[in-house]
Amino acid sequence: MKIGCPKEIKPQEFRVGLTPQAAREAVAHGHTVIVEAGAGSGAGFPDADYEAAGARIAATAEEVFAEAELIVKVKEPQAVERARLREGQVLFTYLHLAPDPDQTHDLLASGATCIAYETVTDAGGGLPLLAPMSEVAGKLAPQVGAWALQKANGGRGVLLGGVPGVRPARVAVIGGGVVGTHAARVAAGMGAEVTVLDRSLPRLRYLDDVFGRAFQTRYASAAATAELVEASDLVVGAVLIPGAAAPKLVSRAQLSAMKPGAVLVDVAIDQGGCFETSRATTHEDPIYEVDGIVHYCVANMPGAVARTSTQALGNATMPFLLALADKGWRQACADDPHLLNGLNVHAGKLTYAAVGMALGIDVLSPRLALKA
Ligand SMILES: NC(=O)c1ccc[n+]([C@@H]2O[C@H](COP(=O)([O-])OP(=O)(O)OC[C@H]3O[C@@H](n4cnc5c(N)ncnc54)[C@H](O)[C@@H]3O)[C@@H](O)[C@H]2O)c1
Repeated sequence: MKIGCPKEIKPQEFRVGLTPQAAREAVAHGHTVIVEAGAGSGAGFPDADYEAAGARIAATAEEVFAEAELIVKVKEPQAVERARLREGQVLFTYLHLAPDPDQTHDLLASGATCIAYETVTDAGGGLPLLAPMSEVAGKLAPQVGAWALQKANGGRGVLLGGVPGVRPARVAVIGGGVVGTHAARVAAGMGAEVTVLDRSLPRLRYLDDVFGRAFQTRYASAAATAELVEASDLVVGAVLIPGAAAPKLVSRAQLSAMKPGAVLVDVAIDQGGCFETSRATTHEDPIYEVDGIVHYCVANMPGAVARTSTQALGNATMPFLLALADKGWRQACADDPHLLNGLNVHAGKLTYAAVGMALGIDVLSPRLALKA
């Protein structure tokens, strides 16, 4: 199979869909790998690394799209990329079609087969191609929170870990899923006093069993959440209700009860945010202040560490990519129902029910698409 990896063209996207490591594995499986010149440079992978892995460097994206049977990317294809897709070609990337009718219509019109990272599942009910980015964002949250707590950034001037004789910062993490667990681990590792709030008792039991005394757990009643938000120097918002906007768990009125200069890091901002006063920010201008409380609400936190994020995403996508290349998409999806869950578009038909519901488009069952 000819696998193609173009350079990402969405603004501020420095990740790349294929690492040199994944390129090497694909070549070892007998596939041809074509990478656009400079595709990996934002993530610190020069063309020479791909060439050493056995890939060929193409001068332009047009060349990659024209030659490849399977295109691997990170972000949803932009309009100019969608125009290059063709019938029979397979696209493997993040798509997020439900809020994006323009992209959906273009992908349907292309005739291509499009498999979305974000809807591929695993045996535990998780989303294995979303989890790595949650792990990255979770581990970043205390790091950016510690920075925002510095006086020059508007924060309280509190050091997360304290020093001998001085109490460490108090950190509340609301939501103990993938983001929350990684945030709590890092904050605790930096020496902060950490409490994780969640509404799932099985999740709280798991955290207690695995992490013991590293951090505390509390059931996320409104009263417990308010009490901890008021007492904390740093609050990390990490809740998710799948398929829904994030619930607003801290109101504007509550800000005045918080410590002046405390910091809110709203990781759930990509789902609308879980603090009433959150609005999405960018890496160029990540923080703002409301009623004396510093807010950090960057919607694509993993972009700050493009190299780590690319490697983490590459590790997670590689087995699926190799299955698609080795067997062809039909057999790979027939053999693996979790990969089949990633099928969103095939030959002009939408194949993912939730997207069809959101956009009012008829859906072909993915099982039938396998035979189409
Ligand atoms: N900003 C970014 O760059 C970025 C990057 C990755 C993920 N995210 C977002 O972070 C959020 C969390 O993702 P995740 O992978 O950890 O999800 P997850 O499903 O693993 O965890 C979410 C947790 O929230 C808990 N929860 C739900 N409602 C709650 C409530 N009212 N109070 C307390 N806990 C509640 C759930 O029980 C679950 O344990 C999502 O919105 C995700 O899209 C953002």
